[in-house]
Parts: sequence; structure tokens; C-alpha cells
Amino acid sequence: MPHSPRHLISSADLSAAEIQDLVKLALVLKRTRQRVLDGRQLALLFEKPSLRTRVSFQVGMRHLGGDSVYLTPQEGVLGEREPIKDVARVLGRYVDIVAIRTFGQAIVDEYASYSTIPVINALTNEEHPCQALADLVTLTEHLEDVSGHTLAFIGDGNNVATSLALTAVSLGMHVRIATPRGYQLPEWAATEASIRAAEAGGSFATLTDPELAAEGADALYTDTWTSMGFEREAERRRMDFAGFQVNAQLRKIAGTGVLVMHDLPAHRGEEITDEAFEGEGSIIFDQAENRTWAQAAAICKLLGVDHEVRR
Ligand code: CP
Ligand code: NVA
Repeated sequence: MPHSPRHLISSADLSAAEIQDLVKLALVLKRTRQRVLDGRQLALLFEKPSLRTRVSFQVGMRHLGGDSVYLTPQEGVLGEREPIKDVARVLGRYVDIVAIRTFGQAIVDEYASYSTIPVINALTNEEHPCQALADLVTLTEHLEDVSGHTLAFIGDGNNVATSLALTAVSLGMHVRIATPRGYQLPEWAATEASIRAAEAGGSFATLTDPELAAEGADALYTDTWTSMGFEREAERRRMDFAGFQVNAQLRKIAGTGVLVMHDLPAHRGEEITDEAFEGEGSIIFDQAENRTWAQAAAICKLLGVDHEVRR
């Protein structure tokens, strides 16, 4: 029987119970920094730029006693010098786990189908599961129990929105995604989010009116209007997304105490105003910080050492 490792490629790969457990584990690791990854090696294969994901994966490994190697986009590792199936089997002989940032989700799927070690999606055009886990860790820190709270995402129904919706509804949140027409969440993700919401006692809604989405929300979340790889559409998107901005008006509609979230990098004056970014309730840098611990938790789980962590 060939060894078949567990992967984290889509947020839908995790059950609600696993998401719940990963959030708890991340908070334990953040507090205690137990060196349960002693001697373990992570390879990062990145075809797009990164600040947070790269650094948080690398320092996270070190905090827990492991190490990492970063392969730059310039190295053209994924299919340029040699087939992906060969890269996957070579790296499996050197390291224990791989994190991949690339364009199409199909590239990560193909890699994983040949990989003898766990594969983590470190962002594709379609999903960003590590960001979503960190966001739920952050919301848990600020709201304690996230279930029953309302999270409104304003902007593009992109990779970040997809993973966020799937993860947040799994924990019983009421999730509203407001996008311009033509930029909504993919159909499969909306369907999956609705199913998970029903199971967890939350709700899921897609809207085209940001103000309706923001009404009474506990948290307002936004992301860039133009994701990496879509730069040629930037001008068009600036027009299409006019009005889909987290600003003073939307915060007022949400109400006192609303949390403001962004996965970064942010574009002040586009998807968020400087006032909202820097203002009261902004937990944006907590989100960035928690990437380290959410990913560390996911690595522990995929490597099967999560049970060694003293809770
Ligand atoms: N939020 C996020 O993934 O940031 P980077 O693109 O800098 O990794
Ligand atoms: N949606 C953004 C997220 C960046 C972390 C992108 O894909 O560029």
C-alpha cells in the first residue's frame, strides 16, 4: 500500500471539529511554544511574492524546533525545469512537509497526488486556507466564542473570501459576502458554505449591497480588489468595485465595537480607507501575527504530532 499523507489544500478539507481543534491548538502553541517539531523540515515552494506567509511559516517552524527551506519563484520549481510529479517525489526524500503558493489550485492538486508527504496550500487563485485559520484564531481571541457572531466580507469573492467563508461558517458564524455582480464566490463554495452553516447553526448569504451586509456586523473584512495574477484587470476592477470599501460609513452601519479585518497587503483608498485601517477595532496586525500559530497548528496536525502538544 503506498503511503497516503493528509493534505490541507482546500478549507473544505477540514471538518468543523478539526477547524475548532486547530484554532484551540494554535492558541496553545502561541502561549507555550512547545518544541514538538524537533528536527522536522518544511519546504516552501512559492511562485508568487509573499511577506506574511513566508516569514510566518519559517519562524513558526523554528519556534517549534524545526526548520525550513524557501524556494523562490525564480527557481521555476513547479513544472518548468522538470515535471511536478518528479519534484514532488524528490522533495519527499528531503523534507517532511511542503507548503505551495502558486496560481491554479490544479497545480497543488497535481503535486499532492504524487507527494509522499503532506502538502499545504499557501495561497492559490482559488483559496487561502492558512489565512482563514489565522483569521478564526484572531476572531476567537477577540470574541471568545465566534459562533453566533456576524462576519461581513466586502469586496472580491476571491481566494481569501472563499476560505474565510468555509472556515467561519463551520464554527457557527453568520457570514455575509458582499461582492459586485460577476465577482461572487464560486458556486461550489457558496453551496458548501450553506451546507456547513446549516450544520453548525450559523448562516451564509451572498449579497451585492455592502451596506446591507455590514448592518449590525461584529466584524468587517476586506481584501484587495485585484489579486496576484490578475493585475491586467486592475483598472476595470477599480471601477467595478467602487462602493465596496470598508470606511467610516460602513463601520457606522455595522455599529459600535465592530472589528476591522484585512489579510494584507492593503491598498488604502481602494478596498479600505486609512481611517478604517488604522482606527478603533482594527485587528489587522493580530491577523498577521496569528498566521504563525495557525500554520504551526496545521503542520502539527498534518504530521500527526498534535497529540503530543500539552493542552
Ligand atoms: N496575507 C498574506 O498571505 O500575505 P503575503 O502575501 O505577504 O504572504
Ligand atoms: N487575494 C489576495 C491575497 C493576498 C494575500 C491575492 O491573491 O493576491
